[in-house]
Parts: sequence; structure tokens; C-alpha cells
Amino acid sequence: MMTQATLALDGGRPIRAAMLPYGRHRVDDADIEAVVAVLRSDRLTTGPTVDEFEAAFAKAVGARYAVAVSSGTAALHAAASAAGIGPGDEVITTPMTFAATANCVRYLGGTVVFADVRPDTLNLDPAKVEAWITPRTKAVITVDYAGQPSELDELEALAARHGFTLIEDASHALGATYRGRPVGCLAPLTTFSLHPVKHITTGEGGMVTTNEPALAARLRIFRNHGITREHRRRDGWLYEMVELGYNYRLTDIQSALGLSQLERLTDQVARRREIAATYTRAFATLPEIEPPVTLAERESAWHLYVVRLRLDRLRAGRAEVFRALQAENIGVNVHYIPVPWHPYYATLGFRPGAWPRAEGAYERMLSLPIFPAMTDADVEDVVHAVEKVLGHFRR
Ligand SMILES: Cc1ncc(COP(=O)(O)O)c(C=O)c1O
Repeated sequence: MMTQATLALDGGRPIRAAMLPYGRHRVDDADIEAVVAVLRSDRLTTGPTVDEFEAAFAKAVGARYAVAVSSGTAALHAAASAAGIGPGDEVITTPMTFAATANCVRYLGGTVVFADVRPDTLNLDPAKVEAWITPRTKAVITVDYAGQPSELDELEALAARHGFTLIEDASHALGATYRGRPVGCLAPLTTFSLHPVKHITTGEGGMVTTNEPALAARLRIFRNHGITREHRRRDGWLYEMVELGYNYRLTDIQSALGLSQLERLTDQVARRREIAATYTRAFATLPEIEPPVTLAERESAWHLYVVRLRLDRLRAGRAEVFRALQAENIGVNVHYIPVPWHPYYATLGFRPGAWPRAEGAYERMLSLPIFPAMTDADVEDVVHAVEKVLGHFRR
């Protein structure tokens, strides 16, 4: 007889009737009203709502300036350009990220160098970074993996000693804190993504924060074709394109959504923390998985909840566990395939095997669903599905 204990993969009844995604946006009536108000106004883009969104975002993260752009990828491109990265420059980053983190260096003709991560948090290991520093190192781009802040003090100390710029890709970490201070006011340049699976969304969108007026000015020029606004103010019609920039502008329509979403940021992050704590408690008694490691003096924003399988205790590999959980309608995912493994990076000469910690973690990692709109019943479903599948494959 087929019971619920029979894996859905083998024809049993799945834990859930419908798929639970790993991440999902939350849009409420206030968000919709805010967007409609802009649609009824005179300005759809580059109007007062962008300015308002930037000011509110800067305040939320304790930064002097926030510059809104059209995606997290555009934010990285703008930040890398503001840091002065160009041909001949080396930029050290992590293999355990989305490709966009490294790609921004390539857009500017720079050379990407991948340093290995800490084995526990999977954030860049400052000692590994240090080993790759040369006189040509122009920047380090660190990623707050899964929402946990990077080793910022150690990386800043290296930046001061060796004269490079630290860029923090905080696409996962809006709402996180490091030593009591919010992510967004710590590194010279911090980038965020406002994609729908992130903490707040504008559909597509991104933000760069900085405390440096000169960097803020460069970011603003870069996102608007390389055009300065100074002459327009003085002479009315005159403008000057002073460098090769892009149209990376965020619209007023998107900014209205972002501004409305930002009001709920604290609650959204609190709910993510609650879900993460429930998972960690539930999995403490499951020897087949290792819950994510969190360090003292950091509060993660929990963009992702990434467990690692103890493959030595299982009769199945990660692929089979992944498929079994998907069949139970739990939308597990994998973050990330190491970036240097991608065919494009292979054309630049990168070969697997050089980052044993990131690569070893990749082989046994799974991201479980985590997003603020999950109900307690959804969270329980995930726990039950994990127990069911790991119970089945237990050695
Ligand atoms: C670490 C990281 N950096 C950059 C990006 C790119 O952001 P976007 O999709 O908004 O361009 C993402 C998006 O998933 C990301 O996770």
C-alpha cells in the first residue's frame, strides 16, 4: 500500500498538494495603491518618487547616499565603475555567488580572481583573499552569502593596508547588521538587488549606498548615460556627457513600490529570522544535515536558508534528495554552482578544483524555502518533507 511515508518520487502522496517556491515576493494593497498613484501622476520615471525612495533607503541602512538603479547587476556595474576598475586591474571575489558579482568586473575589462570561502559561513575568507593580493588588486567584492554579513573589519583592514576599494554585494543582506550597525553603511560601496525574491522588491531594481559624496556623484552620472546634471541646472538646456555611461535608471513607478515595501522591511526580516530559527531548532535532531552556521555579532537577513547534507549518512546523493523534495512539492534550490565552473569562465582559463571549500560545500548544499509570506503550516511542511526524505535515504 502507498502511504505518505512512500516518497512522492516513488508514487506516494506528496507532503503538499501544490509547489512551495524557495522564495516569493509579497505585494499588498498599500503597494498597489502607491504604484497606481504614480501612474496617475505626471512623472513615470526620474521624478520625485525616485528621490524619495533613495532618501528612505539611505536612512534605513544608515548611509549618507543611496543611488537607485535598474537591477542588482546594474548596481554592481555602477559600483565597480565608481571604484575605478578598468583593463589591467585585478578584482578578488568569491566563487560562491551569482555570476553577476564577477561579471561586473568583466564588463569593465578587469581581471577576476576567485578566492576561497570560510568553510562555515561560506563568506570570503580574508586569509585566502590576502594570498591573492598583488600591486594590481584594485578592489575586493565580498558577498554577504545567504544574508550573513561578510568579514568586513578584516577585509577593510586589508583594503587600508593594500590600497584597494572594498565593495560589498549585499544583494542577500538588506536588513542585516554587523557589530550592531546596518549593512549598507559599512563598506565604501554597498550594492543591493530589489528582485522579487529579495527582502523588498521593485520588480527589477537595485541600489548602491555610500557615505562618500564623490562616489555618489560618479554613480549618478554612470546610471544616466555618463551625463552630468550640473550644466542643466545652470543653463537650462545644456548638458554634457563626460564619460561612457548607461541607462540604468529606476522608474518612479518602481520607486513607489520600493518605498511602500521599505516600510515593511523590519517585519519582513523579522519573519525570515523566525522561519530560520524554526528550521534550525527542527533540524538539530536530524544528523543527516548541517544547518547554516551563524557567527556572533552578526544578524543575518536570511535571504536563503542553506543546509548541507551529510552524504556519509545517506544512501543517496544530493541530486536524488533534491528530486525527492521537489516531488514532495518543496521548491528546493541550489545556491550556487561555483561561478568559475561556468563555461564562460572556463574560456578565461578557470578550472574546477582550486576552491575546495566552496566546491565541497556546493556538492552537498540545498536551499530550503524561506520568504516572509510563508505560513507556519508551510514551514512545517518543509520540516516534514525533509524528515520524510532523509528518513527514507538514511543509512
Ligand atoms: C549575490 C547576488 N549578486 C547580484 C545579483 C544580481 O541582482 P539582479 O538580479 O537584481 O540583477 C544577485 C541576484 O540574484 C545576487 O544574488
